[in-house]
Amino acid sequence: MSDLKPVVTPAELRARLDRLPRLSLADLPTPLLDCPRLSEALGGPRILVKREDLTGMAFGGNKIREFEYSIAPAVKEGYDVLLHGAASQSNQSRVTAAVAARLGLKAVMVGKKDAHSDQINGNLLLTHLFGAEVHLVENEAEKVAVIERLRSEGHRVYNTSTDGAPLRSVGYVDGFLELWGQLEARRIHPDALYVCSGAHTHVGLVVGARALGIPLRIVGISPSPRKDAEANAHLARVANENARILGLDLTFTAEDIESYGEYAGPSYGVVTPAAREAVQLAARTEGLVLDPVYTAKTLGALIQHIRQGKFKKGQTVVFVHTGGTPALFAYGEEIL
Ligand SMILES: Cc1ncc(COP(=O)(O)O)c(C=O)c1O
Repeated sequence: MSDLKPVVTPAELRARLDRLPRLSLADLPTPLLDCPRLSEALGGPRILVKREDLTGMAFGGNKIREFEYSIAPAVKEGYDVLLHGAASQSNQSRVTAAVAARLGLKAVMVGKKDAHSDQINGNLLLTHLFGAEVHLVENEAEKVAVIERLRSEGHRVYNTSTDGAPLRSVGYVDGFLELWGQLEARRIHPDALYVCSGAHTHVGLVVGARALGIPLRIVGISPSPRKDAEANAHLARVANENARILGLDLTFTAEDIESYGEYAGPSYGVVTPAAREAVQLAARTEGLVLDPVYTAKTLGALIQHIRQGKFKKGQTVVFVHTGGTPALFAYGEEIL
Protein backbone atom coordinates (compact mmCIF):
# COMPACT_ATOMS: atom_id res chain seq x y z
CA MET A 1 0.00 0.00 0.00
CA SER A 2 1.25 3.45 -0.86
CA ASP A 3 1.87 5.88 1.97
CA LEU A 4 -0.96 6.86 4.22
CA LYS A 5 -0.71 10.60 4.56
CA PRO A 6 -4.13 12.27 4.49
CA VAL A 7 -4.77 14.09 1.22
CA VAL A 8 -7.73 16.01 2.66
CA THR A 9 -9.17 16.83 6.07
CA PRO A 10 -12.63 15.48 6.92
CA ALA A 11 -14.02 19.02 6.48
CA GLU A 12 -12.46 19.35 3.02
CA LEU A 13 -13.76 15.93 1.99
CA ARG A 14 -17.21 16.98 3.20
CA ALA A 15 -16.95 20.18 1.16
CA ARG A 16 -16.00 18.26 -2.00
CA LEU A 17 -18.93 15.88 -1.55
CA ASP A 18 -21.24 18.83 -0.99
CA ARG A 19 -20.30 20.28 -4.37
CA LEU A 20 -21.87 17.30 -6.17
CA PRO A 21 -25.57 17.14 -7.06
CA ARG A 22 -27.39 14.99 -4.52
CA LEU A 23 -30.93 13.80 -3.82
CA SER A 24 -32.29 13.48 -0.32
CA LEU A 25 -33.46 9.87 0.08
CA ALA A 26 -31.81 8.32 3.12
CA ASP A 27 -32.37 8.70 6.85
CA LEU A 28 -28.86 9.47 8.04
CA PRO A 29 -26.79 8.81 10.03
CA THR A 30 -27.48 5.10 10.31
CA PRO A 31 -26.80 3.55 13.71
CA LEU A 32 -23.53 1.91 14.72
CA LEU A 33 -24.42 -0.77 17.23
CA ASP A 34 -22.51 -3.16 19.46
CA CYS A 35 -23.20 -6.89 19.10
CA PRO A 36 -22.05 -8.22 22.49
CA ARG A 37 -23.95 -11.51 22.35
CA LEU A 38 -22.66 -12.28 18.87
CA SER A 39 -19.09 -11.54 20.03
CA GLU A 40 -19.60 -13.74 23.08
CA ALA A 41 -21.06 -16.62 21.05
CA LEU A 42 -17.93 -16.56 18.88
CA GLY A 43 -15.54 -16.01 21.81
CA GLY A 44 -13.98 -13.38 19.61
CA PRO A 45 -13.43 -9.68 19.07
CA ARG A 46 -15.83 -6.86 19.81
CA ILE A 47 -18.19 -6.72 16.81
CA LEU A 48 -20.02 -3.57 15.82
CA VAL A 49 -22.59 -3.41 13.06
CA LYS A 50 -23.02 -0.34 10.87
CA ARG A 51 -26.74 -0.52 10.06
CA GLU A 52 -26.88 0.43 6.40
CA ASP A 53 -29.97 -1.76 6.25
CA LEU A 54 -31.62 1.13 8.11
CA THR A 55 -31.14 3.86 5.50
CA GLY A 56 -34.88 4.38 5.63
CA MET A 57 -37.21 4.17 2.67
CA ALA A 58 -38.36 0.94 1.04
CA PHE A 59 -36.60 -1.40 3.51
CA GLY A 60 -33.32 0.51 3.19
CA GLY A 61 -29.93 -0.87 2.27
CA ASN A 62 -26.77 0.50 0.68
CA LYS A 63 -28.45 1.47 -2.61
CA ILE A 64 -30.43 4.25 -0.96
CA ARG A 65 -27.22 5.98 0.10
CA GLU A 66 -25.60 5.33 -3.30
CA PHE A 67 -28.62 6.57 -5.26
CA GLU A 68 -28.57 9.95 -3.53
CA TYR A 69 -25.54 10.69 -5.71
CA SER A 70 -25.93 8.37 -8.69
CA ILE A 71 -29.52 9.25 -9.61
CA ALA A 72 -29.12 13.00 -9.13
CA PRO A 73 -27.86 13.41 -12.75
CA ALA A 74 -30.96 11.58 -14.06
CA VAL A 75 -33.20 14.15 -12.39
CA LYS A 76 -31.04 17.07 -13.51
CA GLU A 77 -30.92 15.86 -17.11
CA GLY A 78 -34.62 15.02 -17.42
CA TYR A 79 -34.65 11.23 -17.71
CA ASP A 80 -38.15 9.82 -17.24
CA VAL A 81 -37.47 6.06 -16.76
CA LEU A 82 -35.33 4.38 -14.12
CA LEU A 83 -34.50 0.87 -15.27
CA HIS A 84 -32.78 -2.01 -13.57
CA GLY A 85 -32.26 -5.66 -14.39
CA ALA A 86 -30.54 -8.44 -12.43
CA ALA A 87 -31.70 -11.43 -10.38
CA SER A 88 -35.45 -11.73 -9.76
CA GLN A 89 -34.83 -11.02 -6.07
CA SER A 90 -32.67 -7.97 -6.80
CA ASN A 91 -32.48 -5.38 -4.04
CA GLN A 92 -31.44 -2.79 -6.56
CA SER A 93 -34.57 -3.41 -8.65
CA ARG A 94 -36.67 -2.90 -5.51
CA VAL A 95 -34.89 0.32 -4.60
CA THR A 96 -34.94 1.56 -8.21
CA ALA A 97 -38.73 1.12 -8.25
CA ALA A 98 -39.20 2.82 -4.89
CA VAL A 99 -36.99 5.78 -5.76
CA ALA A 100 -38.73 6.18 -9.12
CA ALA A 101 -42.06 6.28 -7.28
CA ARG A 102 -40.74 8.93 -4.92
CA LEU A 103 -39.39 11.02 -7.80
CA GLY A 104 -42.52 10.61 -9.95
CA LEU A 105 -40.62 8.69 -12.66
CA LYS A 106 -41.51 5.46 -14.45
CA ALA A 107 -39.75 2.31 -13.18
CA VAL A 108 -38.94 -0.71 -15.30
CA MET A 109 -37.44 -3.95 -14.00
CA VAL A 110 -36.00 -6.39 -16.54
CA GLY A 111 -35.10 -9.21 -14.17
CA LYS A 112 -34.05 -12.77 -14.83
CA LYS A 113 -36.23 -15.86 -14.77
CA ASP A 114 -34.32 -17.78 -12.13
CA ALA A 115 -34.67 -20.04 -9.09
CA HIS A 116 -36.66 -17.40 -7.16
CA SER A 117 -38.83 -15.84 -9.86
CA ASP A 118 -41.84 -18.15 -9.68
CA GLN A 119 -43.28 -16.69 -6.49
CA ILE A 120 -44.14 -13.03 -6.12
CA ASN A 121 -42.41 -12.55 -2.80
CA GLY A 122 -39.66 -10.51 -1.12
CA ASN A 123 -38.01 -7.95 -3.39
CA LEU A 124 -40.04 -9.03 -6.42
CA LEU A 125 -43.27 -8.39 -4.55
CA LEU A 126 -42.06 -4.96 -3.47
CA THR A 127 -40.87 -4.05 -6.96
CA HIS A 128 -44.39 -4.73 -8.24
CA LEU A 129 -45.86 -2.88 -5.28
CA PHE A 130 -43.80 0.25 -6.01
CA GLY A 131 -45.46 0.31 -9.42
CA ALA A 132 -42.66 -0.90 -11.67
CA GLU A 133 -43.33 -2.43 -15.06
CA VAL A 134 -41.82 -5.86 -14.42
CA HIS A 135 -40.37 -8.15 -17.09
CA LEU A 136 -38.73 -11.45 -16.21
CA VAL A 137 -36.65 -12.52 -19.18
CA GLU A 138 -34.64 -15.56 -20.24
CA ASN A 139 -31.82 -13.83 -22.11
CA GLU A 140 -30.04 -10.61 -22.98
CA ALA A 141 -31.86 -10.22 -26.31
CA GLU A 142 -35.24 -9.98 -24.54
CA LYS A 143 -33.80 -7.36 -22.20
CA VAL A 144 -32.44 -5.31 -25.08
CA ALA A 145 -35.84 -5.53 -26.80
CA VAL A 146 -37.57 -4.02 -23.75
CA ILE A 147 -35.08 -1.14 -23.63
CA GLU A 148 -35.39 -0.51 -27.38
CA ARG A 149 -39.17 -0.48 -27.13
CA LEU A 150 -39.00 2.11 -24.32
CA ARG A 151 -36.65 4.29 -26.37
CA SER A 152 -38.84 4.00 -29.48
CA GLU A 153 -41.75 5.25 -27.36
CA GLY A 154 -39.70 8.37 -26.66
CA HIS A 155 -38.61 7.53 -23.10
CA ARG A 156 -35.23 8.58 -21.75
CA VAL A 157 -34.00 5.50 -19.93
CA TYR A 158 -31.56 5.73 -17.02
CA ASN A 159 -30.07 2.35 -16.08
CA THR A 160 -29.33 2.49 -12.35
CA SER A 161 -26.57 -0.13 -12.72
CA THR A 162 -24.51 1.51 -15.41
CA ASP A 163 -25.52 5.19 -15.59
CA GLY A 164 -23.88 7.30 -12.91
CA ALA A 165 -22.12 4.18 -11.62
CA PRO A 166 -18.95 5.92 -10.32
CA LEU A 167 -21.17 8.17 -8.21
CA ARG A 168 -22.40 5.11 -6.30
CA SER A 169 -19.00 4.67 -4.69
CA VAL A 170 -18.93 8.40 -3.97
CA GLY A 171 -21.97 7.69 -1.77
CA TYR A 172 -19.78 5.45 0.33
CA VAL A 173 -16.96 7.96 0.64
CA ASP A 174 -19.69 9.91 2.35
CA GLY A 175 -20.64 6.75 4.27
CA PHE A 176 -17.05 6.39 5.42
CA LEU A 177 -16.96 9.96 6.72
CA GLU A 178 -20.13 9.26 8.69
CA LEU A 179 -18.83 5.96 10.09
CA TRP A 180 -15.44 7.40 11.01
CA GLY A 181 -17.10 10.28 12.82
CA GLN A 182 -19.15 7.80 14.86
CA LEU A 183 -16.08 5.72 15.72
CA GLU A 184 -14.03 8.76 16.69
CA ALA A 185 -16.82 10.12 18.86
CA ARG A 186 -16.85 6.83 20.79
CA ARG A 187 -13.05 6.47 20.72
CA ILE A 188 -13.31 3.12 18.97
CA HIS A 189 -10.31 2.05 16.90
CA PRO A 190 -11.29 -0.97 14.81
CA ASP A 191 -8.78 -3.52 13.58
CA ALA A 192 -10.82 -4.27 10.48
CA LEU A 193 -14.03 -3.55 8.68
CA TYR A 194 -15.95 -6.28 6.79
CA VAL A 195 -18.26 -5.37 3.95
CA CYS A 196 -19.94 -7.08 1.02
CA SER A 197 -17.80 -6.45 -2.03
CA GLY A 198 -20.00 -5.98 -5.02
CA ALA A 199 -18.02 -2.94 -5.98
CA HIS A 200 -19.26 0.46 -4.93
CA THR A 201 -19.76 0.26 -1.17
CA HIS A 202 -16.41 -1.44 -0.76
CA VAL A 203 -14.58 1.00 -3.05
CA GLY A 204 -16.16 4.09 -1.47
CA LEU A 205 -15.07 2.99 1.99
CA VAL A 206 -11.52 2.31 0.75
CA VAL A 207 -11.28 5.70 -0.96
CA GLY A 208 -12.69 7.48 2.09
CA ALA A 209 -10.17 5.83 4.41
CA ARG A 210 -7.22 6.55 2.12
CA ALA A 211 -8.28 10.15 1.55
CA LEU A 212 -8.22 10.74 5.30
CA GLY A 213 -4.98 8.76 5.73
CA ILE A 214 -6.59 6.13 7.97
CA PRO A 215 -4.76 2.78 7.97
CA LEU A 216 -7.90 0.68 8.38
CA ARG A 217 -8.02 -2.83 6.96
CA ILE A 218 -11.17 -3.07 4.80
CA VAL A 219 -12.08 -6.63 3.88
CA GLY A 220 -14.54 -7.14 1.03
CA ILE A 221 -16.46 -10.41 0.65
CA SER A 222 -17.90 -11.05 -2.79
CA PRO A 223 -21.43 -12.48 -3.21
CA SER A 224 -20.26 -14.14 -6.47
CA PRO A 225 -17.31 -16.42 -7.08
CA ARG A 226 -14.57 -14.40 -8.79
CA LYS A 227 -10.82 -14.29 -9.29
CA ASP A 228 -9.48 -12.04 -6.57
CA ALA A 229 -6.57 -10.55 -8.52
CA GLU A 230 -8.84 -9.56 -11.43
CA ALA A 231 -11.55 -8.27 -9.11
CA ASN A 232 -9.10 -6.20 -7.09
CA ALA A 233 -7.66 -4.66 -10.27
CA HIS A 234 -11.18 -3.77 -11.38
CA LEU A 235 -12.07 -2.29 -7.99
CA ALA A 236 -8.86 -0.24 -8.08
CA ARG A 237 -9.97 1.24 -11.43
CA VAL A 238 -13.35 2.14 -9.88
CA ALA A 239 -11.47 3.72 -6.95
CA ASN A 240 -9.34 5.80 -9.33
CA GLU A 241 -12.47 7.07 -11.08
CA ASN A 242 -13.98 7.90 -7.69
CA ALA A 243 -10.82 9.79 -6.62
CA ARG A 244 -10.90 11.72 -9.91
CA ILE A 245 -14.52 12.82 -9.33
CA LEU A 246 -13.61 14.09 -5.88
CA GLY A 247 -10.35 15.70 -7.03
CA LEU A 248 -8.31 13.53 -4.66
CA ASP A 249 -4.65 13.10 -5.46
CA LEU A 250 -4.70 9.33 -4.99
CA THR A 251 -3.86 6.36 -7.20
CA PHE A 252 -5.04 2.86 -6.41
CA THR A 253 -3.70 -0.47 -7.62
CA ALA A 254 -4.96 -4.01 -7.01
CA GLU A 255 -2.65 -4.21 -3.97
CA ASP A 256 -4.71 -1.50 -2.25
CA ILE A 257 -7.85 -3.66 -2.32
CA GLU A 258 -8.55 -6.77 -0.23
CA SER A 259 -11.48 -8.83 -1.48
CA TYR A 260 -12.33 -12.52 -1.53
CA GLY A 261 -14.51 -14.52 -3.90
CA GLU A 262 -14.07 -17.83 -2.08
CA TYR A 263 -16.96 -17.35 0.38
CA ALA A 264 -19.62 -16.99 -2.32
CA GLY A 265 -20.22 -20.72 -2.77
CA PRO A 266 -20.92 -22.25 -6.19
CA SER A 267 -22.66 -19.20 -7.61
CA TYR A 268 -24.43 -15.93 -6.90
CA GLY A 269 -27.60 -16.34 -4.85
CA VAL A 270 -26.86 -19.85 -3.61
CA VAL A 271 -26.98 -20.11 0.19
CA THR A 272 -23.86 -21.74 1.63
CA PRO A 273 -23.81 -23.55 5.02
CA ALA A 274 -21.70 -20.67 6.43
CA ALA A 275 -24.21 -18.11 5.17
CA ARG A 276 -27.11 -20.04 6.71
CA GLU A 277 -25.27 -20.24 10.02
CA ALA A 278 -24.53 -16.50 9.90
CA VAL A 279 -28.19 -15.60 9.31
CA GLN A 280 -29.29 -17.82 12.18
CA LEU A 281 -26.57 -16.72 14.59
CA ALA A 282 -27.15 -12.99 14.00
CA ALA A 283 -30.88 -13.48 14.46
CA ARG A 284 -30.59 -15.63 17.57
CA THR A 285 -27.93 -13.64 19.39
CA GLU A 286 -28.82 -10.06 18.42
CA GLY A 287 -32.26 -10.11 16.81
CA LEU A 288 -30.38 -8.86 13.75
CA VAL A 289 -31.83 -9.79 10.36
CA LEU A 290 -29.37 -10.44 7.53
CA ASP A 291 -30.10 -11.14 3.88
CA PRO A 292 -29.27 -14.54 2.39
CA VAL A 293 -27.28 -13.37 -0.65
CA TYR A 294 -24.91 -10.59 0.45
CA THR A 295 -24.61 -9.90 4.16
CA ALA A 296 -24.95 -13.58 5.12
CA LYS A 297 -21.84 -14.38 3.14
CA THR A 298 -19.97 -11.38 4.56
CA LEU A 299 -20.73 -12.24 8.17
CA GLY A 300 -20.19 -15.94 7.35
CA ALA A 301 -16.65 -15.10 6.22
CA LEU A 302 -16.00 -12.99 9.32
CA ILE A 303 -17.19 -15.88 11.53
CA GLN A 304 -14.79 -18.23 9.74
CA HIS A 305 -11.93 -15.78 10.16
CA ILE A 306 -12.66 -15.42 13.87
CA ARG A 307 -12.67 -19.21 14.27
CA GLN A 308 -9.37 -19.38 12.42
CA GLY A 309 -7.95 -17.05 15.08
CA LYS A 310 -7.49 -14.08 12.74
CA PHE A 311 -9.32 -11.82 15.22
CA LYS A 312 -9.28 -12.30 18.96
CA LYS A 313 -10.77 -10.93 22.17
CA GLY A 314 -9.51 -7.39 22.73
CA GLN A 315 -9.74 -6.55 19.03
CA THR A 316 -12.61 -4.79 17.27
CA VAL A 317 -14.25 -5.48 13.92
CA VAL A 318 -16.96 -3.44 12.21
CA PHE A 319 -19.41 -5.38 10.05
CA VAL A 320 -21.21 -3.19 7.50
CA HIS A 321 -24.77 -4.46 7.07
CA THR A 322 -25.62 -3.42 3.50
CA GLY A 323 -29.28 -4.44 3.71
CA GLY A 324 -31.18 -6.73 1.36
CA THR A 325 -33.40 -8.21 4.05
CA PRO A 326 -36.61 -8.50 1.95
CA ALA A 327 -34.93 -11.30 -0.06
CA LEU A 328 -35.07 -13.43 3.07
CA PHE A 329 -38.78 -14.02 2.52
CA ALA A 330 -38.06 -15.70 -0.81
CA TYR A 331 -35.38 -17.92 0.74
CA GLY A 332 -37.28 -19.48 3.64
CA GLU A 333 -36.50 -23.11 2.86
CA GLU A 334 -32.81 -22.42 2.26
CA ILE A 335 -32.36 -20.50 5.52
CA LEU A 336 -34.19 -22.54 8.17
C1 LIG B 1 -27.62 -6.12 0.18
C2 LIG B 1 -26.54 -5.75 -0.76
N1 LIG B 1 -25.29 -5.62 -0.28
C3 LIG B 1 -24.26 -5.28 -1.09
C4 LIG B 1 -24.45 -5.09 -2.44
C5 LIG B 1 -23.28 -4.65 -3.27
O1 LIG B 1 -23.55 -3.37 -3.73
P1 LIG B 1 -22.43 -2.39 -4.30
O2 LIG B 1 -21.75 -3.07 -5.43
O3 LIG B 1 -23.19 -1.21 -4.77
O4 LIG B 1 -21.51 -2.10 -3.19
C6 LIG B 1 -25.72 -5.23 -3.00
C7 LIG B 1 -25.92 -5.08 -4.45
O5 LIG B 1 -26.84 -5.46 -5.07
C8 LIG B 1 -26.80 -5.54 -2.13
O6 LIG B 1 -28.05 -5.64 -2.60
